[in-house]
Amino acid sequence: MIGATTPSPPDPPLPDPPPPPSAHHDAHGFWDDFYEKSADDTDWILSPSETLTESLSSLLPEPDTSASIPLALLEIGCGTSLLSERIATSNPLCEVIATDVSPVAIAQCAKRSQTPNLTFCVLDCITLPSPLPSALSGKDFSVILDKGCLDTFLFRLPKLSRPSAIQSLLNNVHALLSGEGVYIVMSPRKVIKELRDYKGFKQYTRKALGLETYESGELDGGRVQSKVFLHRCEVDETFDTSLSDCFRRVEEVEVCGGCGKLRGEGGRKWVNHVKHCRKGGGGER
Ligand SMILES: C[S@@+](CC[C@H](N)C(=O)[O-])C[C@H]1O[C@@H](n2cnc3c(N)ncnc32)[C@H](O)[C@@H]1O
Repeated sequence: MIGATTPSPPDPPLPDPPPPPSAHHDAHGFWDDFYEKSADDTDWILSPSETLTESLSSLLPEPDTSASIPLALLEIGCGTSLLSERIATSNPLCEVIATDVSPVAIAQCAKRSQTPNLTFCVLDCITLPSPLPSALSGKDFSVILDKGCLDTFLFRLPKLSRPSAIQSLLNNVHALLSGEGVYIVMSPRKVIKELRDYKGFKQYTRKALGLETYESGELDGGRVQSKVFLHRCEVDETFDTSLSDCFRRVEEVEVCGGCGKLRGEGGRKWVNHVKHCRKGGGGER
């Protein structure tokens, strides 16, 4: 309305100070440089289109309107993506916290956002600080979203440091999720054996997102993504993350991760069946 005065929006919350660099890997400098040079709103792998926002929103548990604590959703490795912004806007009863290791990316997001139920903060999801940043402390997240964060470790970390970094990431995800929590990973990778075999997840499913329905995002060098998979992992709250061996071996698998078949008789036959499916012989689930 011309001439009407609208109240000025509240100042966006200030991000927590950056944590000290992790000894685990050298992501910090790389990603700060990337976000200093790149244009705002870079979105990797998948664009946060209405279709994607709707299908991710449909995976969220129904918010309990009578509960005093809102449903909490965390994004790890958000970069400057608009995904959390869109999810928060479509789900005003959820509290969304979007995090990244790069203070440069977080500062760009915080400057841009005016969404009241969305907070940005710096977080290294491999080496969680203690105490946690104030925005996260005391929260049990119902959902953790990951679009390209786990993927970046699978892609960029040297082979030797990869297993321990990924085990730390999954243990941290497990610790941050509530007992019913779900970790959702969007990745160009069809097979992520670390998700399938992690003992802290009681249920793991995967589906392809057809790029005729979902809009692809960017890849390094302006290329676009040609395949995207949504990996959904349900937490097993009985799992003890202090165990050194967090991944199932083939012999321990009771349900084949490739085709969903239940383990029958015959150890050797079963092991070969699971190995065959793991190599892609079992088809899509
Ligand atoms: C491929 S980009 C994806 C960015 C964004 N999610 C998107 O879809 O556009 C990977 C992101 O992971 C972040 N990252 C890398 N290492 C991290 C860590 N240890 N903890 C949290 N975020 C990290 C990077 O800063 C970067 O923003």
